[in-house]
Amino acid sequence: MTVLHDSYARNLTYLRISLTDRCNFRCVYCMPPEGIKLLPRAEVLTLEEIERLARIFVSLGVNKIRLTGGEPLLRKRIVYLVSSLSRFDGLRELGLTTNGSFLADLAFPLKEAGLNTVNVSLDSLNRERFARITLRDELPEVLSGVTRALEAGLAVKINAVALSDLTRDEVVHFCRLAQNYPLEVRFLEFMPLCGTGYKPELVAPFKGIKSWVFDEMDLVPLPRDENVAETYQVKDGPGRIGFIASMSEPFCGTCTRLRLTSTGGLRLCLFSPLEIDLRTPLRSGAADDEIADLIRKGVWKKPKGHEEYLGKTQYRELPKIRMLGG
Ligand code: 5AD
Ligand code: SF4
Repeated sequence: MTVLHDSYARNLTYLRISLTDRCNFRCVYCMPPEGIKLLPRAEVLTLEEIERLARIFVSLGVNKIRLTGGEPLLRKRIVYLVSSLSRFDGLRELGLTTNGSFLADLAFPLKEAGLNTVNVSLDSLNRERFARITLRDELPEVLSGVTRALEAGLAVKINAVALSDLTRDEVVHFCRLAQNYPLEVRFLEFMPLCGTGYKPELVAPFKGIKSWVFDEMDLVPLPRDENVAETYQVKDGPGRIGFIASMSEPFCGTCTRLRLTSTGGLRLCLFSPLEIDLRTPLRSGAADDEIADLIRKGVWKKPKGHEEYLGKTQYRELPKIRMLGG
């Protein structure tokens, strides 16, 4: 079987596809309040183009795809796209990362279309703080989205970015979710990326948050496999807790990821500006084999790790790269 691999012998089996640069939220760490300058529509891949590229990636050994944004549920024919991708032979898992605001109505159709997992970005369970972070007062909508996703039988993960104003009380509240519902709550260490620029004052000390969780409940470690999260089963409940320490404990050595931007650029690392243009060949009549060749050669340039970009100045000199998927 074909497996894509890079110059450090990492197998690249996981593709994150950004469906749009648009988002109806304005998370403080991701976008300025007025939003970003949107890409001209003609530059964004059509769903048919996405499907074709995804099919080529799967033929090269990608077995897991996650749809991201911006907000992927803003794409009108998202259910159609999911039903088409989910039928690809060789695809083991199809997931989606969303801010959850449109999830309540879409959870069942997406599940029926073949979606396996949904990750909901949810940084606060407190309505005021949620509105301060996202600049939108939509916590109730997001929570109904999570509920509907569970009812639909989707595997649900909640992504909570560890920001400096995350209190111990709120961490406990997140713990309760995993004690009461069959979902995984994951705490994400803040990464120095994104449009508005990185603000050191937003970063929470990750170890401290972890210790609050361990003080709160009994956790049983789960095998790590290719998972970037350090994951635990809650002892007295149906849920799990995960920690993604991208900065303090980078997992670049075992990274299996590739990214496709909404404009058809192949990105090799979240921290690297390097982009391989797949849209031009796609739109100028290249055959699948030629595109596959571009991908095979392109992934060879995947950097060893993000230290290469951050170097010793880690939290000072930052690459000007926007987060490619909320
Ligand atoms: N650091 C950490 N996580 C981030 N996300 C967006 N920007 C950052 C950042 N700078 C989160 C989103 C989403 C996940 C894919 O990444 O909230 O849940
Ligand atoms: Fe939208 Fe996600 Fe960015 Fe928030 S982090 S503004 S939900 S893309």
